[in-house]
Amino acid sequence: MSQEPQPFELHFESRGEGRPLLLIHGFPFNHRMWESQIPDFARAAHVLAPDLPGFGESPPRDAPYSVQRYAADCLAILDALDILEPVVVCGLSLGGYIALAFARHFPERLAGLILAATRAGADSPEGKAGRDESISKVRAKGVGDIVQGMHPKILAAENYETKPELAKRLKEMMLRASSEGVAAALSAMRDRPDSTALLSKIQVPTLVIHGEEDQIIPSSAAKAMAVEIPGAELSLIPRAGHMLNLEQAELFNRQVKGFLAKI
Ligand code: MLT
Repeated sequence: MSQEPQPFELHFESRGEGRPLLLIHGFPFNHRMWESQIPDFARAAHVLAPDLPGFGESPPRDAPYSVQRYAADCLAILDALDILEPVVVCGLSLGGYIALAFARHFPERLAGLILAATRAGADSPEGKAGRDESISKVRAKGVGDIVQGMHPKILAAENYETKPELAKRLKEMMLRASSEGVAAALSAMRDRPDSTALLSKIQVPTLVIHGEEDQIIPSSAAKAMAVEIPGAELSLIPRAGHMLNLEQAELFNRQVKGFLAKI
């Protein structure tokens, strides 16, 4: 007897009431990277923080994956909760690529955009080749090598000294990602479209927020986006790298809450 396919379920944390605020995590983390934001933002919004497939508590899904498909997964969560009003989408890095895909494909569901530690451009040919190499490594040996290579770059250099507990916690979180989830995300990032031409068409309030010491995506990428997006606010966070929301949580939260209050 043939079996009905099971509906796919994504794990997500849902807290608070009010305007829906979707928090999309970066690579290769999970929704717990928003630990310093969820309780604070939930005082003013209905926070929804999913684990993308293959990360945190969400099981991996069949390949191939794309940023559009991740955005559709996020939309499916909203649909399942009957949230049809436009939402604010906040994404960090990979989460920002997905937020831009959400803006491209589901603009009628978008009320505001927060682009954290991310960029609009596509991968260069060298970047794509690097993703392929990483995918082969993950398939052959698991996530260890990828984490070893990436972990020294996720924080501002000084924060490895001043915030060793944070560095340790983030490494543990990275190591918990599944090989399938990591390989799928690497191929989605490799194939993501260039969103530069989309920027001038964005019609919702946008905050571009970036760590001044980001070693993975330079702050010049944020400045370039903020110039193109009509009316965008730019916030550069000092003494913060790629994980600015955790490295300078208070400042990050203040900037985001100030932005949300204006929408
Ligand atoms: C991320 O932090 O989500 C990724 O490292 C971004 C990227 O590799 O392009």
